[in-house]
Amino acid sequence: MVSGKRVLLIIAGGIAAFKSLELIRNLRRRDIAVRCILTQAGSQFVTPLSLAALTEDKVYQDLFSLTDESEMGHIELSRDADLVVVAPATANILAKMRAGIADDLATTALLATDKPVYVAPAMNVRMWEHAASQDNIAVLQERGVKIIGPEEGDMACGEYGLGRMSEPETIAEAIENFFLEAGQPNTKSLIGKKAIVTSGPTHEAIDPVRYLANHSSGRQGHAIAKALAAEGAETVLVSGPTQLPDPGGVTVKHVQSAEDMLAACQAALPADIVVCAAAVADWRIDNPPLEKIKKNGSLPSLNLVENPDILAHLSQIDKNRPELVIGFAAETEDVVTYAQAKLAKKGCDWIVANDVSPETGTFGGTNNTVHVISGDGVEDWPTLSKEDVGRKLTTRIVNFLETPSK
Ligand code: PMT
Repeated sequence: MVSGKRVLLIIAGGIAAFKSLELIRNLRRRDIAVRCILTQAGSQFVTPLSLAALTEDKVYQDLFSLTDESEMGHIELSRDADLVVVAPATANILAKMRAGIADDLATTALLATDKPVYVAPAMNVRMWEHAASQDNIAVLQERGVKIIGPEEGDMACGEYGLGRMSEPETIAEAIENFFLEAGQPNTKSLIGKKAIVTSGPTHEAIDPVRYLANHSSGRQGHAIAKALAAEGAETVLVSGPTQLPDPGGVTVKHVQSAEDMLAACQAALPADIVVCAAAVADWRIDNPPLEKIKKNGSLPSLNLVENPDILAHLSQIDKNRPELVIGFAAETEDVVTYAQAKLAKKGCDWIVANDVSPETGTFGGTNNTVHVISGDGVEDWPTLSKEDVGRKLTTRIVNFLETPSK
């Protein structure tokens, strides 16, 4: 279903353009043909020669090239592919896509295409967070453009934050999933349902350079989001800071603190399914100072205040409450008993209890041993990989939505 598919890869001008070479390799390994349009700015970072060598095809650069137009015009170029991918997608090209500006071959092809479009944004964190970029992304998403990433990390400019282009393997996986899904009959049980999943730790600022956190890696929450998306749910993953790549086919909202996480979940509503797998900090520092706390001989006193409880909040919405709200309970003793108390206190429908004592390796590890507690009682699951916990939980969710009494 993937073999023989054709991708038109548009490479815009950002330092992440060097990753497009690896992306081409990853796609060719999957037997997907790649044809490139290289913008003028993109050609400052990668050469047409290396792209031509890797794609074994001509590289298109010029809107007004007589030879290009006679061989393959921009309309044909944009329609010949099965999928158009912009990677890296700079702030500039995203703004042009939103506005419908067609002032070079890449933007003209994007305006002329009738094929699905994926973009992998790459830019400085402040450019990404700018209201203009966020607005452009929101409009493009509404129009059906799919966004892959960006991810958090060190940037070429020396800053740290959200804006790094997703890794080539993540982008290739999203493209592969697109082709696999497009070739499938619509038999997925969660098509038409929307899910919100929280994952990872939260970082609560002590001052501008220090924070309170915990050992959550995000593996469990990310695996659940992936499994729900694979079953056809439109899935929003609200993730605290992790080292994991964004799962393909999932909309990822990156957040830092519990307050940010609550706001992102609220913005993603309404939803049918909510799974709160994040290890949210119960407390934050009251009014963290804007300047770094100085070490001056006396110990600073940190005044803690309680964070909002996201799970309780989403469980207790009066109007349009999600049909199924699932929490996790991380315990180190009397796991099931404490989890049952949490289920009652927070008002969620099910709670997935796990032992997070250090010797279990649950935090950060690849396996999990869980107990699923619902109105039906307690199910003890064997030790499974976190991916399998995600899939098994998704099957249970599908069964519940088909027969809500379960
Ligand atoms: O990320 P991994 O390394 O893969 O590890 C997975 C995990 C151990 C983090 C995961 O399986 C897990 O147990 N997540 C819940 C961790 C947690 O914070 O549990 P809790 O018992 O403190 O909280 C109970 C529930 O309330 C959880 O669903 C939590 O997301 C939610 N909560 C807690 C506090 C808060 N302020 N808001 C919340 O939504």
